[in-house]
Amino acid sequence: MFTLAALVTLGAIISQRSVALAAGCWRNTACTGPTSAAFPGAWDKYNYSPTSRTVSPASILSANGEFISDYTGPATLKLNGSQLIFDFGYEVAGIVTVSYGGTGTGNLGLAFTEAKNWTGEWSDSSNGSFQPDGYLLANVTTTAEQNYTMPDAKLRGGFRYLTLFSLAATEAFQINILDITVEIAYQPSWSNLRAYQGYFSCSDDLLNRIWYSGAYTLQTNAIPPATGREFPILGGGWMNDQNLDLSSTGDTIYVDGSKRDRTVWPGDLGIAVPSILVSTGDWEGVANTLTVLYNDQQSSGELPFAGPGINIYGSDTYHMATLIGTYDYFLWTNDITWLTTIYPKYKSAMGFITGKIDSTGMLSVTGTNDWGRLTQGGHNTEANMLLYKVLTGASQIATWAGDSASSSTWSSQAATLKAAVNANNYAASVGAFKDDDTDTTLYPEDANSMALVFGAALPQYVQSISQELTKNWIGIGAVAPELPGNLVGFVQSFEIKAHMAARQASRGLELIRRAWGWYINNPYGTASTCIEGYLSDGSFGYRATTGYDNDYSYTSHAHGWGTGPTDALTSYIVGLTVTAPGGSQWNLSPQFGDLTHAEAGFTTPMGQFSASWSTTDGGYTLAWDAPGETEGVLVLPASGTAPTLEVDGQSRALQQGEYNSTAQTVTISGASGSHTVTVTY
Ligand SMILES: *[C@@H]1O[C@H](CO)[C@@H](O)[C@H](O)[C@H]1NC(C)=O
Ligand SMILES: *[C@@H]1O[C@H](CO)[C@@H](O)[C@H](O)[C@H]1NC(C)=O
Ligand SMILES: *[C@@H]1O[C@H](CO)[C@@H](O)[C@H](O)[C@H]1NC(C)=O
Ligand SMILES: *[C@@H]1O[C@H](CO)[C@@H](O)[C@H](O)[C@H]1NC(C)=O
Ligand SMILES: *[C@@H]1O[C@H](CO)[C@@H](O)[C@H](O)[C@H]1NC(C)=O
Ligand SMILES: *[C@@H]1O[C@H](CO)[C@@H](O)[C@H](O)[C@H]1NC(C)=O
Repeated sequence: MFTLAALVTLGAIISQRSVALAAGCWRNTACTGPTSAAFPGAWDKYNYSPTSRTVSPASILSANGEFISDYTGPATLKLNGSQLIFDFGYEVAGIVTVSYGGTGTGNLGLAFTEAKNWTGEWSDSSNGSFQPDGYLLANVTTTAEQNYTMPDAKLRGGFRYLTLFSLAATEAFQINILDITVEIAYQPSWSNLRAYQGYFSCSDDLLNRIWYSGAYTLQTNAIPPATGREFPILGGGWMNDQNLDLSSTGDTIYVDGSKRDRTVWPGDLGIAVPSILVSTGDWEGVANTLTVLYNDQQSSGELPFAGPGINIYGSDTYHMATLIGTYDYFLWTNDITWLTTIYPKYKSAMGFITGKIDSTGMLSVTGTNDWGRLTQGGHNTEANMLLYKVLTGASQIATWAGDSASSSTWSSQAATLKAAVNANNYAASVGAFKDDDTDTTLYPEDANSMALVFGAALPQYVQSISQELTKNWIGIGAVAPELPGNLVGFVQSFEIKAHMAARQASRGLELIRRAWGWYINNPYGTASTCIEGYLSDGSFGYRATTGYDNDYSYTSHAHGWGTGPTDALTSYIVGLTVTAPGGSQWNLSPQFGDLTHAEAGFTTPMGQFSASWSTTDGGYTLAWDAPGETEGVLVLPASGTAPTLEVDGQSRALQQGEYNSTAQTVTISGASGSHTVTVTY
């Protein structure tokens, strides 16, 4: 509590130095990003991104985490070992400057953490040694005012809490904290960090917060290429001055996490890219990231498991994730110049992976590195689902690149693979896919979710797979059987989309609320980003016993692979998706779940697309707005009997074949421009 007594005893009042709210890009980065939001509206209040590239804390906490005052407020460190915690209230990242006055000789210590659990003199872990990163020290002598700015190489990639502490040998030592600022490093080419090119809003406030936490997480993963993590670090502490550009020329690169690993991990892009495209709309950053991965290709055609900084190979699944990202990017942008440049490398990468298809028609995995699941190799189902998605996308990409021979090869390989994986890897007695064609004990979350998201499961298996997946649910999300005891941002992101792909919207929304709702409302988390993973006991120690050396503070709290709800809410709940390059064709297929209203918009190089629905007594109203030169397909939810329709206020009779009583949908074409359809059941 804030009391007058505390005010008096704590001494100096932090000066009210006003930080100019000047817009600005990171250092000397060219300001090529958008300057204003494409869809301004009431939903901007959910946007976590700051109004300025220079930010200060929101409140001051005692060493044991209790609220002392809002920032600015009195902040004095005395003698040896006294601490104050500065809480920004949300995830920030960059270079810290502390202005202070001092009496005596000693040190000012700075330590950083995303989760409240690791406030104190030791930063949370990021350097890869699975030990606390330690702290930075400023040398303090008697001064009225002095500034300490951390070295650029010590840039801190993600934190919510900054602990300041005093170290002194002498009795009289005192530091008065006058001001603290962070120069934000992420989303480097944007002068206005809130200039999102997409938006979302619905009747559930929690889902709105979660959508924006995904968008904000992705901004914190969009880093200046020269601020990657050094690997391995020599000596103590941490270093974020590794150049990741690998001859690419863009100003932004997407790494897996804000605090760590600050390296491009392609698998993570499988969730991150679709969520970036529907929210911030930073497709230039996506293109640059993919270019870096192609620049890291080996002569065999193999693409990396982790990009520059780490540069490791041997992952068939992450190899395929880059190919899927290529499809997602081109579908969104129709960037034919980029595709033409990349296509020879893409084709070589396709040769590398299709060369591992054996006589069964399935992929036999030999590059067994993967996202963290305990097993990989052979006719693994997850890998085969990824290859199905790769092949169906590649068949389209080849058509767009004018390579019809490859297109037909890849589409027939896709058909063969789909038949084989359903015949060999599906356990009819259980109603779900096995981990591979021989396993009889494991029904993994990743493979079964991907089977639905990628349309690889036979139609008659879809409902049972969605039902089976719910057997892994606990109060705070879905435990992954392939990584026991862990709830994984990446895999849960696929699972929510899987239920929605099965048109089980309520199930998908329920899992979002359990998992992402748990995190965003957790008083120990960032309250603004999506976590990498956590344990079924509700602790943050993702993979503690399977790779992270029992270091609970190593977990990343702002991880792009955990941002699935952002794409899911736009693409499946509002239901607006791009289906031909650049958005020349689109699909609007809403699902309501338990919501009464939802709307979303996004931008492609062709312009702005948006859609909105509200349920009514006995039906709903659906509106959309799409650029000219585009055409859409509307898939309208109905009930067991044919509904009545009004389009732009005019009654529209249903034609033969438009109403499907099995699917309980009406499918009609949707014109470009702004229109409304009213559906009465
Ligand atoms: C000063 O505090 C630090 C950290 O709290 C502690 O490790 C150290 O032993 C203390 N030094 C003295 C001289 O008390
Ligand atoms: C603080 O002083 C020590 C000892 O002189 C020196 O090694 C160190 O580089 C100084 N630190 C800073 C941040 O200036
Ligand atoms: C410390 O930094 C602030 C903000 O940039 C600046 O206004 C002030 O003059 C600096 N103080 C010193 C002593 O350099
Ligand atoms: C990471 O930081 C810790 C604590 O300073 C240090 O002991 C360790 O050597 C560093 N890790 C690496 C890989 O250098
Ligand atoms: C964080 O610390 C709090 C307080 O000690 C504890 O209750 C909680 O379980 C910890 N949370 C996680 C997720 O580790
Ligand atoms: C109707 O929907 C069902 C279920 O989605 C689908 O299998 C079937 O092919 C559809 N019928 C037509 C004529 O499109």
